[in-house]
Order: sequence, then C-alpha cells, then structure tokens
Amino acid sequence: MAASGEWHCEKRPFSKNESFARDNENVPETGCLSIIVLGASGDLAKKKTFPALFNLYRQGFLQSNEVHIFGYSRTKLSDDDLRDRIRGYLPQGKELTNDVSDFLQLIKYVSGSYDAPEGFQELDKAISEHEISKNSTEGSSRRLFYLALPPSVYPQVCKMIKSYCMNKSDLGGWTRIVVEKPFGKDLASAEELSSQIGELFDEPQIYRIDHYLGKELVQNLLVLRFANRFFLPLWNRDNIANVQIVFREDFGTEGRGGYFDQYGIIRDIIQNHLLQVLCLVAMEKPVSLKPEHIRDEKVKVLQSVVPIKDEEVVLGQYQGYKDDPTVPNDSNTPTFATVIYVYTMKDGKAGKALNSRKAEIRVQFKDVPGDIFKCQKQGRNEFVIRLQPSEAIYMKLTATLPRVVIPEAYERLILDTIKGDQQHFVRRDELKAAWEIFTPLLHRIDQGEFKSLPYKPGSRGPVEADELLERAGYVQT
Ligand code: NDP
Ligand code: BG6
Repeated sequence: MAASGEWHCEKRPFSKNESFARDNENVPETGCLSIIVLGASGDLAKKKTFPALFNLYRQGFLQSNEVHIFGYSRTKLSDDDLRDRIRGYLPQGKELTNDVSDFLQLIKYVSGSYDAPEGFQELDKAISEHEISKNSTEGSSRRLFYLALPPSVYPQVCKMIKSYCMNKSDLGGWTRIVVEKPFGKDLASAEELSSQIGELFDEPQIYRIDHYLGKELVQNLLVLRFANRFFLPLWNRDNIANVQIVFREDFGTEGRGGYFDQYGIIRDIIQNHLLQVLCLVAMEKPVSLKPEHIRDEKVKVLQSVVPIKDEEVVLGQYQGYKDDPTVPNDSNTPTFATVIYVYTMKDGKAGKALNSRKAEIRVQFKDVPGDIFKCQKQGRNEFVIRLQPSEAIYMKLTATLPRVVIPEAYERLILDTIKGDQQHFVRRDELKAAWEIFTPLLHRIDQGEFKSLPYKPGSRGPVEADELLERAGYVQT
C-alpha cells in the first residue's frame, strides 16, 4: 500500500562544484579581495554577515594573504570596538580561539556618513592601502560591498561607491554590490529602487540576496527534480493535487515590531522567500545550469501566476501583537497569511507566533485511481522537503538524509558573490514579476479594505486558513 513501508533514502553525493560549474566562467579568481560591510554597526552585520565571513574564513575560502574586511557606518567606533561587538556572535570554543582572533585582525573600521564624499574617500584610501600592501596589481583587485543597511539609503550609498570607491576592472578585478531585502514595498517602489541602482551598476554587478536561496535543500531542489528520473514523470498536474509551501515561526515580532508593522508577513516572507521556493518547485527544466537559464525559467513561473484575489487569501494577526509600543493600536498588518496561487494549485502560507517553527514544501499527489485497499484508509502520497529545522526529505514514511555539516545560507551566498555566480540571486525582472503578483492585494490591506483575523499565539493560525486550503483541494493526511 502506498502509505506504508519504510523507505531508505541513499543520498548519492552530488558535487555542486562539478555539476554547477558553468563552463569556464567559474575559474577561480585571484587578486586582493576586499569585503566592505556597510552598516557594520547594525543587527544583520553582527548576527549574520560577519559570522558568515568567519565561517568562510575557517573553511579556507577567504585567505588571509589576500583578504581584508572593512566595516563602515556612521557610529564612531575603533577597530577594536567593532571586533568586540562581533566576537560574541562568532562560534565559541577553545579550539576556535586562534581562528577567531586571526579573523578579527582582518577587520578594519571606517566611520562616515552615507551621503557625503569624505567617509567614502577615506574608505577608498583604506582599501587601496590594503591592496597595495598585498602587492595587488591595479585592475586585478576585487571589491565586494555588502549593504547591511535600510533600503532607504541604498541609492545614496550606491552613488557614493560609484563616485569614490570603484575598482578598476581591466585586469579581471571587479566591484560587486550585495543588497538585502526588502527590495521595495510594492511594484512601483521596487521598480524605482531598481532604476536608481541600475543607473549606477550593471545587472551582473548587483546581487539581490534572498537568504532562502542559500538554504541547503532549496539549493538541492533542481537536482532533486531534474537529476532523478523517479520524479520526472510524476511532477505534473496529472499527478500532483497541490503543493504547500509553509513557513511557521513559534515566536512573534518581539523587538522588531516597528519594522514589521511597515511590511507585514506578505512583504517579509511570502513575496520573496516563499515565492522563490515556488519558482524552483514549479519551473520547467532549464536549458542548462547557467544562472541566466535558470533565472529565465523562474521568471516564466512568476509571470504565469495571476495577481492574488481576495477569495484566495486568509490573513491573521496574533492577539497581543499590538501590545508592542512600536505598533499602532489600529494596525491591520497581517502576521499570518495563507495564499492560494492560481498556478496549477500551489499555495503558500506563512505566520509568526504559531505552534511550531518550520519551513517546508509539501507536494501532495492525487489519490490512486481504483483503490483496491478498501479495508485500510489510504492516505495521499506526499513528498515533503523540510527546509528547516533539521533538513529532511521524506516520502510516505520518513527517509531523512544523513546529517552532514550544512553551511549557513549567508555563507554560500557570499561565496557565490565572490565567485560571480548569480544563480541564487534575484534578477530585476524576477523581482518585478514577484511584486506584480502581490501589489494589488497589498494595497487593499494597506488601505484597510482587507482585514486580518485575530488568532491566538501558539495556535495553528486562523481556522479559516485551513478551510481555504480544504476548498483548494488539500487533504489532511
Ligand atoms: P539596522 O536597523 O540594524 O541598520 C543597520 C545600520 O544602518 C545601523 O547600525 C545604522 O548604522 C544604520 N542605519 C539604521 N537606520 C538608518 C537610517 N534611517 N538611515 C541611515 N542609516 C541607518 O538594520 P539591520 O542590520 O537589521 O538590517 C539591515 C538590512 O538587512 C535591512 O535592509 C534589513 O531589512 C535587512 N535584513 C535584516 C535581517 C536581520 O535579521 N536583521 C534579516 C533579513 C534582512 P549607523 O547609525 O552606525 O550608521
Ligand atoms: C527574514 C525575515 O527575512 O527571515 C524574518 O525578515 C524571519 O522576519 C527570517 O524571521 C526567517 O529566516 P530563517 O532563516 O530563520 O527561516
């Protein structure tokens, strides 16, 4: 019977280095590498960016004889002040002490504003001194600017970089810009941001980071789907009844209410992280694994999803959300949403302050025709890819992958930026198509025309969301 019996899943090693190598484009680059974290005094920098850089350093991807790291922000700090702020967020342990202090010595700090030349001229001077100290030939050195900053300052910061901090690229060197989400608040603002940055940098220099694209099993989706004959004949509307892409967190917006209330769960999670996952689940086989071929297929998926209608959505807001002093008393911002995408029945749901923390893709197959096992209740086949916590792939009965050391999403993505691989970054037309799906709905929510339903923290979210899924054909197994 389909729903019984244990499946053993043998994980065949699949080296991305072999299979994702893009002809000769991925030849290792040499030359001095400067990584500049703008907004170094902030939350993302200390919690994610610097720890990711440390792990890359430990694994030998950043060599101290060619790498230097710079922090830049307005707060007045000494090099040691910044190092002390970061230290507590790096992995602990006696065996790491030397690595941690060697890594921290690579970091220098420059303080300056985001809209005046002086700070950026000083930054350029510090980078150039480092390049000269490493005997780097002019034109061969590499500069990676990581904007760990609020998007409101992206345009002015990009202008300053362009005017004062560019590297000459005639000998294989480059200047790349990594920008964090949110890329705009709706279609118009995203397009404006894209145009402002696009006037200064070419698309191949811009890396729009979506850290879900750096997660181990998200990166594995194409391999799973297209390297296994097992799935090829099944992965279509004849066999699949629906797909659920689920994001749940068992904590609320504690400490981030001010930011979150401006955005809500759709802009924070669904329009970006979950839509990217949807693309990888739904896209056709790309012509090759070249980043542009993959991103072309993703855009086609997004363009074929119709803008969300009210009857395809349930919104919720957990009770107690408005107790946060930074959240207005009349806030209608959703902290939970279930959305049905009219694209061969895919749906996405995301919520904060629920009863568990997980992100998963649940592919539910149709019932087997002519069920001969009348005596037993036959559950529907489901193929589940759990992205977190404890990455796992299971079908029918659980077949977890052997645990391996799984790098953090940010580590992979920073390494991809250094290698110049844009496959796991969001292209401008992808971003536009993603906003087109959600903008009309978001505007109705912003104007208070679509209400969020209350739900209890620690619950499954509003019961109406389960009813919506049922109407869309999902059967609880
Ligand atoms: P912060 O609010 O901590 O800002 C980072 C730094 O930017 C601050 O230390 C401050 O540095 C400067 N800054 C803050 N507000 C302003 C402002 N209005 N004008 C100019 N400079 C300002 O942000 P995060 O570090 O949390 O996030 C950075 C980016 O990453 C944002 O785009 C965010 O959406 C995104 N992001 C963050 C995540 C997180 O976990 N924190 C997760 C995913 C994305 P100083 O005053 O010293 O110049
Ligand atoms: C961020 C959101 O992009 O992703 C946060 O702004 C959310 O609200 C976080 O908590 C979730 O990331 P992860 O990797 O912990 O699932």
